[in-house]
Amino acid sequence: MNTTIRIPEEEMARQREYASMFKALPGRPETYHIVTYGCQMNAHDSEKLAGMLEEMGMKFCEVKEEADLVLHNTCCVRNNAERKAMGNVTWLKEIKATHPGMLIGICGCMVQEEGMADAILRRYPFIDIAFGTGTVYKLPENLYKAVVSGRRNIAVSQEQNTIAEGVPILRSSPYQAYVTVMYGCNNFCSYCIVPYVRGRERSRTLRDILAEVEGLQKQGVREIMLLGQNVNSYGKDLEEHISFAQLLHEVGKTGIERIRFMTSHPKDLSDELIEEIAGNKAVCRHFHLPVQSGSNRILEQMNRRYTREAYLDKVHRIRSAVPDIGLTTDIIVAFPGETEEDFEDTMRLTEEVGYDSAFTFIYSPREGTKAALMPGRIPDDVASERIQRLIRLQEEKTEQFFKSLIGSCDSVLITGNSKRDDHMFTGKSGRNISVNFENTDYSIGDIVNVRFTSYGKTTLRGEIIKE
Ligand code: 5AD
Ligand code: SF4
Repeated sequence: MNTTIRIPEEEMARQREYASMFKALPGRPETYHIVTYGCQMNAHDSEKLAGMLEEMGMKFCEVKEEADLVLHNTCCVRNNAERKAMGNVTWLKEIKATHPGMLIGICGCMVQEEGMADAILRRYPFIDIAFGTGTVYKLPENLYKAVVSGRRNIAVSQEQNTIAEGVPILRSSPYQAYVTVMYGCNNFCSYCIVPYVRGRERSRTLRDILAEVEGLQKQGVREIMLLGQNVNSYGKDLEEHISFAQLLHEVGKTGIERIRFMTSHPKDLSDELIEEIAGNKAVCRHFHLPVQSGSNRILEQMNRRYTREAYLDKVHRIRSAVPDIGLTTDIIVAFPGETEEDFEDTMRLTEEVGYDSAFTFIYSPREGTKAALMPGRIPDDVASERIQRLIRLQEEKTEQFFKSLIGSCDSVLITGNSKRDDHMFTGKSGRNISVNFENTDYSIGDIVNVRFTSYGKTTLRGEIIKE
């Protein structure tokens, strides 16, 4: 039941063939725009979609309303992401009426939800092309067929357990790159829809990953982010015995300067991994470790398979081995049945850990998940009051932490000019904090040492220290 399908090279060649046939089609769509929702996985999928569309001879169009093809790469983790996507898709319907030949496409996690393909067919007749998360690599074929036949191509298959190597990728930065190490998730946290829409865990081989990293490094990439829904499970499904810690070690040997990774499940965080991070200078000093709740009762209901004590023990272990590591987290408030006491446990844990920052969410019921059937729905006003309290607490913690950083230094990869002020550079510190600083003799893509001089609500300000 858990068989990973590696798409054969002949199939990938067939897709390249479709791409060149599409390119040669007279009167075909010329331009595209991609709207991306959700996490880094989706952002990276969009880079693949763009890579394929470029290979098909299409050009990116900045203005969505003017593009011949608008693809929506959706997320379904929470209801508001879904509402936003469908609102935007429906709004384009009006534009399509004035733009003959415009194609509207939808893909990503939402498309994979049960009943969605049917809904697209019936309720959204203006959607021309739809495909699921496991068949992204088939975009050339699906688009070619839609254009040649002049008919809709709603190709949502249940095929999720695929790994497609060699899909062209149009990366959004020349210095930073995403590298997927594994797809899918086996954890079935009771609130989460991801395992249903992204399929079971499957790892890319070490060989494929290293070849990609080496290629990126040759092109001038300085920082990579290894991606997976649960990177700590890396390798468990592979024939060759390899752990995520060993993978980090091997990736470190390529000489790439900065390595990040996302996301880790606390239950699978091993001492081996902590040791590897401590000893691997290329690994940035940031660890995203989603706790979700500070209450043992709720953690059990969430099927997280760790207790608050076990989580705190892991935090202690990481910090003992890597004292300068920055921790961030995800927290869900108002899970079904969450009492004031449970919530207080989450507040206390947040206080105790002292995260650099936290992503906080109000629980959103997802059809098909276990939690959606649980009693004890929390009223909206209680949920929003709780999240406000939690946000305020974390803001205080972040401020204290930023204050403590003033005068210290960290290496920063310059990623661009500050949005607010053209004369300022912006970048991320090793601990993953946004830093703005005076633009001196350096360029975007350089790694510089910055001393922090002041702070705002979410960013630090600093000055470059010349070596
Ligand atoms: N409701 C609210 N938040 C959720 N997340 C996942 N599923 C849900 C849901 N149903 C959050 C978790 C996860 C992050 C990516 O999104 O905190 O870590
Ligand atoms: Fe969802 Fe849990 Fe898997 Fe993360 S680990 S993707 S929260 S099921």
